[in-house]
Amino acid sequence: QHILVLHGPNLNLLGSREPGIYGRQTLADINARLQQVAAESHAQCTAFQSNHEGALVDRIQAAAQDGTDFIIINAAAYTHTSVALADALSAVDIPYIEVHLSNVYKREAFRHHSYLSSKAQGVVAGLGSFGYEAALRFALAP
Ligand code: DQA
Repeated sequence: QHILVLHGPNLNLLGSREPGIYGRQTLADINARLQQVAAESHAQCTAFQSNHEGALVDRIQAAAQDGTDFIIINAAAYTHTSVALADALSAVDIPYIEVHLSNVYKREAFRHHSYLSSKAQGVVAGLGSFGYEAALRFALAP
């Protein structure tokens, strides 16, 4: 099984970025934990972060060709703005879970709408970095 984890803009700054909201773990910490959980199930977990919308679209398109079975995506701010990412996910037709570290529903109103949720298998918000692990364990469940 091959799981792709996508991280959107500013998530490269995790650890130092608004730690009261996003926690102290770095993106490398999160990715390492996901690799470990995947390895325990003899699965592969590939992570990709970009601050650029088009690079994320390109990576989603590539997933259709590289044997990706499942996508876990925290599109960060692009969640709330990007028809292009939603269209790319629909185009490749790979099941995905949307993850947010913070509970976007107790934050500003502009974070309450997501272009990705309506076609997601599930949405996890507010569980911090454990949200990625929960999504991964779901994807790996037999
Ligand atoms: C986020 C929530 C978004 O609203 C925000 O723009 C982010 C991170 C989260 O993980 O909580 O960058 O996706």
